[in-house]
Amino acid sequence: MTNSSLLDRAVSVLLLNDTGLFTKPGPHQYPHQWNWDSALIALGLSHFDLPRAQQEVRSLLSGQWQDGMIPSVVYHSTPSDYFPNPEFWQIENSPNAPGVPTTGITQPPLLATMVRRMHTRHSMEDFVREGYPAILRWHRWLHTDRNADDSALASIIHPWESGTDDSPRWLHLFEAIQPEALPEFQRGDTRYVAATERPNRTEYERFIYLIDVFRKLNYSPEQLLAYSPFVAQDVLFNAILSRADEDLRELAMGLGQPTDEIDGWLNQMRRNFNDRFWDERAGLYYDYDVRTGKSIPVNTAATFLPLFAGLPSKEQARRLVDEHLLNPGEYAPNEDVRHWVTTTAQTEPTWEARRYWRGPVWVIMNWFIIEGLKRYGYDDVAETIQQDTLRLIEAGGFREYYDPRDGSGCGSTDFSWSAALAIELSQ
Ligand code: DGY
Repeated sequence: MTNSSLLDRAVSVLLLNDTGLFTKPGPHQYPHQWNWDSALIALGLSHFDLPRAQQEVRSLLSGQWQDGMIPSVVYHSTPSDYFPNPEFWQIENSPNAPGVPTTGITQPPLLATMVRRMHTRHSMEDFVREGYPAILRWHRWLHTDRNADDSALASIIHPWESGTDDSPRWLHLFEAIQPEALPEFQRGDTRYVAATERPNRTEYERFIYLIDVFRKLNYSPEQLLAYSPFVAQDVLFNAILSRADEDLRELAMGLGQPTDEIDGWLNQMRRNFNDRFWDERAGLYYDYDVRTGKSIPVNTAATFLPLFAGLPSKEQARRLVDEHLLNPGEYAPNEDVRHWVTTTAQTEPTWEARRYWRGPVWVIMNWFIIEGLKRYGYDDVAETIQQDTLRLIEAGGFREYYDPRDGSGCGSTDFSWSAALAIELSQ
């Protein structure tokens, strides 16, 4: 299956989206530098151009805030029709804002994991020494400025921080948010992609309303945690963070740096993760609404992310795989749904085959799940999902996400992380 033409085409997509300074996630839909996209893109680039991969990381780090946050988007000075633009975010009112225009929120912290992977393959100690302090500061910020209850679990304050914007996980939190007055805005995200494949208006208005709240609070981390109407502890985000802490620890060891602080985060996470998120009756991990103090009982593929971080016990892993991943009523292929792994269980009433995070297959989620399955010894299932993912890309092109019924592509075309992960999965 690993054919050279797929690899050549994947490289072409990364080159197409390369601005020299950073790589766009998609040529029209996403014309700036996105945080977790960029980490994956760096990994993809490292297979054929290591200096350029390192540049990708440096460009992302140039957007780091004074307090350590690495934002979800760095705009650099690239002109575009993307909304929300820097004028909308108004980050200059924060004393923590960096010298380049960025958003005022963050994204799942994949960077340490990607840098470690690149370092393992290419032994790039000088580069690790250069980037390590910035990544450590970001993790510290996540574990402290986003710590709502001394658990070391990080809270997110906007669905965009979860990377899974309109996932049904967040719908219940949205019901409690009634935007009193919305600022004027015009959506740009339905210009290049069909509205039926993008978030609904109700959700989008809440995305914008939250930004309006944040800019009025001048992005003060204390105020955001205290007053954001949306505060959640996200299974996916925290699993990625915990795995990234492990990888950061390895980088620290290689550099001869102390690991006590990272060990503290890892121990606390191991102590608290299962208590907070695991639902024994359902055999699933559920996100947590910090404002109401309640679990959010929605079944999405985020439940498999803890495998990536080694957080479930063997028995919890078995239940996740046997009762859910391999269940054709939920995630495994069946008569209607032919492809692995739908981002939302098909049993959820809000499941939709083509709408963004409501159900389509995303290559990134498959990659997390494949890595997690291998970590727990489910190599055969991992291999099945890996082959299906490569087949999807081969047939549908490097799309942002795929309709799990027939494999047709949705969202952005020439999507960079699908290309980066095609290279990675083909190794
Ligand atoms: C978008 O533009 O849809 C992004 O998900 C927000 O970062």
